Amino acid sequence: MLEFADVGYAWPDGKTLFSGLNFRIEAGEKAVLLGPNGAGKSTLLRLANGLLAPASGTISWQGQALTAEILRQRDFSRAFRQANVLLFQHPEAMLFNASVRDEIAYGPKQLGLADIDARVARWAGELKLDGLLDEAPFALSGGQKQKLALACLLALDPQFLALDEPSASLDPRTVGWLIDTLLDSGRTLLISTHNLSLAAELGERALILDEHGQLIYDGPLATALHDLDLLQAAGLAHRHRHRHGGTAHAHLHAHDWESS
Ligand SMILES: Nc1ncnc2c1ncn2[C@@H]1O[C@H](COP(=O)(O)OP(=O)(O)OP(=O)(O)O)[C@@H](O)[C@H]1O
Ligand SMILES: [Mg+2]
Repeated sequence: MLEFADVGYAWPDGKTLFSGLNFRIEAGEKAVLLGPNGAGKSTLLRLANGLLAPASGTISWQGQALTAEILRQRDFSRAFRQANVLLFQHPEAMLFNASVRDEIAYGPKQLGLADIDARVARWAGELKLDGLLDEAPFALSGGQKQKLALACLLALDPQFLALDEPSASLDPRTVGWLIDTLLDSGRTLLISTHNLSLAAELGERALILDEHGQLIYDGPLATALHDLDLLQAAGLAHRHRHRHGGTAHAHLHAHDWESS
């Protein structure tokens, strides 16, 4: 469904990220993207969503290379925008309509989808936003904004959903709903997180970037979660100094995931 082949990226300031990044995600896979701050998780998700273009290598969607030219073609771009969506780490940037109702309806309208009212009612209901339909999106709380941004994406009925740090501002009930809804949905998922206990519930496969943007692991998530050396290299576990009975000693400790 999605393939990165020898992908490198360059920021406008000349700084480069990723050198020869290779992976592919098949339809229906649930993959978790892990790595420390600045590793390139958000950048990778933007590349996957066609918002950024690689400086080298090729990103393909359903076998079609995502070139600037193809993304300018109206039919391709419409189908791609409906099927491949990204929930931003800071979704405020996505919200600009006058009301929650208009916000959820906006994407389906732009893409000419049918049953707009039903889509709004369904996803507002699922995300418990039905009491807020007439509110202005900017007046919502951070977590409500993230739920709204998610409702906007789900209203498109996408095949591929990339979520950038979804647990950062969502409450546990909503994260639980997210896990139940998305895992049962058959959608293809790529989810970035620092939260290893969430990762353990969300995905089957882990892609782990180190601090330099190198893909240092691509394999079963369960195996990665029990490899403390790997988690430490990925900045996901670290040597804490703990005090036990007055003596300090250092040992490896993954913050929210205890290897058993
Ligand atoms: N607009 C930009 N211009 C130049 N460099 C940038 C820009 N945005 C991000 N970077 C750099 O790209 C690298 C990757 O950033 P990115 O936001 O993808 O990391 P991340 O893994 O998502 O981090 P976090 O866990 O903090 O969200 C960082 O080194 C960052 O400094
Ligand atoms: Mg990020």
